[in-house]
Amino acid sequence: MKRITIFDTTLRDGEQAPGASLYPQEKILVARQLERLGVDVIEPGFPISSPGEFAAVQQISRMVQRAEVCGFARAIREDIDSAVRATQDAARRRLHLFISSSQIHLDFQLRKTQREVLQMARDMVAYAKQFVDRIEFSPMDASRTGDEFLCEMVEAVIEEGATIINLPDTVGYSLPAEYGAMFAKVRKLVRGGDKVEYSAHCHNDLGLAVANSLAAIENGATHVEVTVNGVGERTGNCSLEELVMAIATRGDALGIETGIRTEEIYETSRLVSRMMNFPIAFNKPIVGRNAFQHESGIHQDGLLKNRKTYEIMDPAKMGVPRSMIVLGKHSGRHALKHRMSQYGAKLSDAGLDTVYHQFKALADARKHVSDEDLLALVDGVIDGNVSRFALVDLDISKTADSKRVARVAIRDNEADTVTSYSETGDGPVEAVVGAIKQAMPMSITFADLELHSLSSTERANGEAAVTVVCEGETYRGVGIDEDVIEAVAKAFLSACNQAVAAQNAQNGDTKAEKDA
Ligand code: KIV
Ligand code: ZN
Repeated sequence: MKRITIFDTTLRDGEQAPGASLYPQEKILVARQLERLGVDVIEPGFPISSPGEFAAVQQISRMVQRAEVCGFARAIREDIDSAVRATQDAARRRLHLFISSSQIHLDFQLRKTQREVLQMARDMVAYAKQFVDRIEFSPMDASRTGDEFLCEMVEAVIEEGATIINLPDTVGYSLPAEYGAMFAKVRKLVRGGDKVEYSAHCHNDLGLAVANSLAAIENGATHVEVTVNGVGERTGNCSLEELVMAIATRGDALGIETGIRTEEIYETSRLVSRMMNFPIAFNKPIVGRNAFQHESGIHQDGLLKNRKTYEIMDPAKMGVPRSMIVLGKHSGRHALKHRMSQYGAKLSDAGLDTVYHQFKALADARKHVSDEDLLALVDGVIDGNVSRFALVDLDISKTADSKRVARVAIRDNEADTVTSYSETGDGPVEAVVGAIKQAMPMSITFADLELHSLSSTERANGEAAVTVVCEGETYRGVGIDEDVIEAVAKAFLSACNQAVAAQNAQNGDTKAEKDA
């Protein structure tokens, strides 16, 4: 197996996505997680672009232990000086210089001739080489550059000491066969082309960034530049998690591997999404909400018998919390029974039949059936309530110093009591979660929140999905309400109820049907 170097540019190219910019402190948190994930190279930013950016690159260079740090610079002295200084204290580093090479960039953006640009590339690689041995050079817009000039430029920078040649598909225009062929051609035609390493850098305008990166690897690239969640300019860059999992899943066919700790993928994805305020599409491979969820009854039945019937990857391998069964109008009895068992409820065949028909009628009448709706149906045939805790009342108020106070009344169906709790937080979510936690018989950690609207009108319901961790296990609850804070409270309580039921199940305590 050939080892592929994973070069992460989430904090440089990824951060160029509109609205995704990070504070230095946030960059440091992401860089720390990238190290945990096991990326080989981190490009932490563009040091010349601002004092804050310089400081972030400098701090990350000092902090990172294992990964190589990459200082990014245009082929301009001031940029190189800044990148050299910012990465000075890195344990291992490279400099990454770029200049445009395509005719359209030369004519309209740089307004320079090929000779002028070639000379700049030569001079600046030679200049940078005095400070750092590992020099990566990118002819920007390489995939739209004529072969002759591209080879000439690559040859010139190799002569001056470049050690890694990155050939970017800057505007996401290439097709896989073309992109792969460009690497084959440069490696073959350029003098010294066999002495350097090659890197792929693909943008996703045609949805081909991962396919193009794999094509480059097939044609000799050993480094791949990627971003977490595929964030980046326009439609983004090659997605780290998609590329890494393509290699992990089909490594036997590709003959390659990476050093990524795949179990850190989900955590990294959520962190980047939160920090960059960048939501992840539901159907995004690997990390999207639906990536391992199944609604069709046929698929659910197969999965419950053997996961591999409809899943090519085990979500646990990427640290993705398992919630494979989603109940909707396409779901079957098997899935319904399974979902109930997650709440510790046991139904007979007749009881299951009753709930199943009521559930189907409800699913036909509305698009979204929440666990709360489902449990209300099950409560009709079960001895007692399936979920131990229920939200009876919720009130939020504001203090003079703009904090939020949540007062909740929680019914404990086991103790047959209703108790009020209150908590203060900087915002309403913190306050309400803190108040509900007080009712729980065990320590439950709030791990994640996703919020979205279920319609485009102002009367929209909010859907909240909350992930919690209890005794090392992850549980996910969903709540729907016109009031988004109430949706969060319901979702949190639903996840807590599952955690409590799982603990009870371990102690052999199961809710059984009345007539069982
Ligand atoms: O897309 C691109 O061309 C780049 C380079 C500057 C490497 O990000
Ligand atoms: Zn780019």
